[in-house]
Amino acid sequence: MKGVILAGGLATRLRPLTYVTNKHLLPIYNKPMIYYPLEAMAKAGIKEVLLTSSADHAGHFASLLGAGEEFGLKLYYAVQKNPQGGIADAMMLAEEFARNEKMTVLLGDNIFGHDLTKSVAEMEAKEKGAKVFGIEMPTKSKQYGVIETDENGKVLSIEEKPEFPKSDFAQTGIYMYDERVFDFIKGLSPSARGELEVTDLNNFYVKEGTMSFEVIDWWIDAGTSYDELLRANVMVQEKVKAGELQ
Ligand code: DAU
Repeated sequence: MKGVILAGGLATRLRPLTYVTNKHLLPIYNKPMIYYPLEAMAKAGIKEVLLTSSADHAGHFASLLGAGEEFGLKLYYAVQKNPQGGIADAMMLAEEFARNEKMTVLLGDNIFGHDLTKSVAEMEAKEKGAKVFGIEMPTKSKQYGVIETDENGKVLSIEEKPEFPKSDFAQTGIYMYDERVFDFIKGLSPSARGELEVTDLNNFYVKEGTMSFEVIDWWIDAGTSYDELLRANVMVQEKVKAGELQ
């Protein structure tokens, strides 16, 4: 299993904080934001991680993180030409890196405590398919993808920031894919906002009936607003003080 962490985008929702600095280098309590997905990869036993970012900021990540020794993993870098090409566009940069292997993708602004070790092992053992991770929360804000399931947890649909959400399960920025993912990405077209959407990609697997779903407990997308960024800082502070996080 290979790991991919996305740290591109323009982070317009956090301007002026992000005019010069990459969002994923902003602090979450005692560490830069990017440390959290890196630590989640390491905790899950993933040894090789590709970090994607824009040409303006890739060097900043290399200065901070080097070859990844501090996290006990091997870190590689890729530059996304269009920093706002979309999540699936950034994932495409991993085609050579993840050739013939499954991959775990983390959005670099997602802060969570869930241990992915078991899910990685389950995914490795699967012949084909993908996995999304959801969290129960109010979904009317049009900030998140929304996952609809039946009573057995089978994924029926995933909609990107829908006007009328079909469930209370927000799609987090944690994804696992089989080796076919790059073929599916090649079949995508840009959405109305001009991006290759992860939700469109995920729906290939939903249609095929091979998308699985797991619910996690706490999670924050620290990139959605100043308030969520602040909430992530306070939540991590509380968890560090309680000894639940380092
Ligand atoms: O965080 C969960 C949400 O992430 C999901 O619920 C949505 O379904 C999914 O589309 C995504 O929505 P966002 O609007 O929050 O995505 P955002 O544009 O903030 O980008 C997410 C991360 O991916 C962020 O860390 C920056 C990175 N990114 C984004 C784009 C558009 C890239 O590296 N390259 C890109 O081109």
